[in-house]
Amino acid sequence: MASSARPADGRLTDRYGRVATDLRVSLTDRCNLRCSYCMPPEGLPWLPSPDILTDDEVTRLIGVAVRQLGVTEVRFTGGEPLLRPGLTRIVAAAAALRPRPVLSLTTNGIGLDRLAPGLQAAGLDRVNVSLDTLDPQRFAQLAHRRRLPDVLAGLAGAAAAGLTPVKINAVLLRGVNDDEAPALLRYALSHGYELRFIEQMPLDAQQSWDRDRMVTATEILDRLRAEFTLLPDPAERGAAPAETWLVAGAERPDGSPARVGVIGTVTRPFCGDCDRTRLTADGQVRDCLFARKESDLRGALRSGADDDELAQRWRRAMAGKLAGHGIDDPTFLQPARPMSAIGG
Ligand code: 5AD
Ligand code: SF4
Repeated sequence: MASSARPADGRLTDRYGRVATDLRVSLTDRCNLRCSYCMPPEGLPWLPSPDILTDDEVTRLIGVAVRQLGVTEVRFTGGEPLLRPGLTRIVAAAAALRPRPVLSLTTNGIGLDRLAPGLQAAGLDRVNVSLDTLDPQRFAQLAHRRRLPDVLAGLAGAAAAGLTPVKINAVLLRGVNDDEAPALLRYALSHGYELRFIEQMPLDAQQSWDRDRMVTATEILDRLRAEFTLLPDPAERGAAPAETWLVAGAERPDGSPARVGVIGTVTRPFCGDCDRTRLTADGQVRDCLFARKESDLRGALRSGADDDELAQRWRRAMAGKLAGHGIDDPTFLQPARPMSAIGG
């Protein structure tokens, strides 16, 4: 649709002047882990299959985002995106778009050792793997499955396949793994992975998040500084949510300085620089992780809307994005969907 490929005119802007260029696509709400900050041990009522976008439907919407809305980065999330049978095909279709978006994946790493080479060949650029502990017992306590070796194998497989820099996302929970920040950093440094800690966010299905128990960005940094010297990072933060530090004396495999990041969504919000737009597995646009409103694209898609109309609906969906997540407002309410159905 060359006639309407005018991202410069038709981008996803909101009334605060932000432009969304980073699309997060959730490919399934299912998962083979049960991280306690995300879902209960028994799992959740999954989205009904007929509601989930087909591979062709997701691919078409990604195409609209890239060609008509100026999206330059696409990240695949879940639930656990490696559970989506069509993942490699969807990645390949996204990689064939022009201008070619940067493609990444947020995964728990289970099965990644097997899938990484095919994903890399299909055009995937990078992965983020969730890893909160290096202790098998704690892993089982935190994620309710004994899968730590699979995750570590997944990380190694991603690095071997060239999906680099391999990033690790870690969430610290008080009384569970809050003493593990330095050990996780040592592990990441010795393997050439880039570690980022994420403050626990109020997105769990059980609604058990407690601000007073949350391990804050400041606390994470204090714990790291007990064992490492962290230096200011000259690199620009830009729209990236992670604040990063250089780790004194540590290098990445390519000889560049090693970094560690902290994503302080709650205590150091970056909403003013947000460049995200989100698509759920059932075809809803969300303008924020914490949004309480969604805009349906699946209905329009299935009733025959053309690409221009889908693009227009997406623009309208993003135009009303609020200034911030409002977690600190007394009136804050968690979104109806848990993280696993939104995508990280
Ligand atoms: N708070 C912070 N991070 C979370 N993640 C999932 N749920 C939460 C939460 N409540 C992380 C996962 C994964 C990414 C998608 O977000 O560990 O790394
Ligand atoms: Fe699965 Fe990710 Fe939720 Fe853990 S945080 S249960 S890996 S979707």
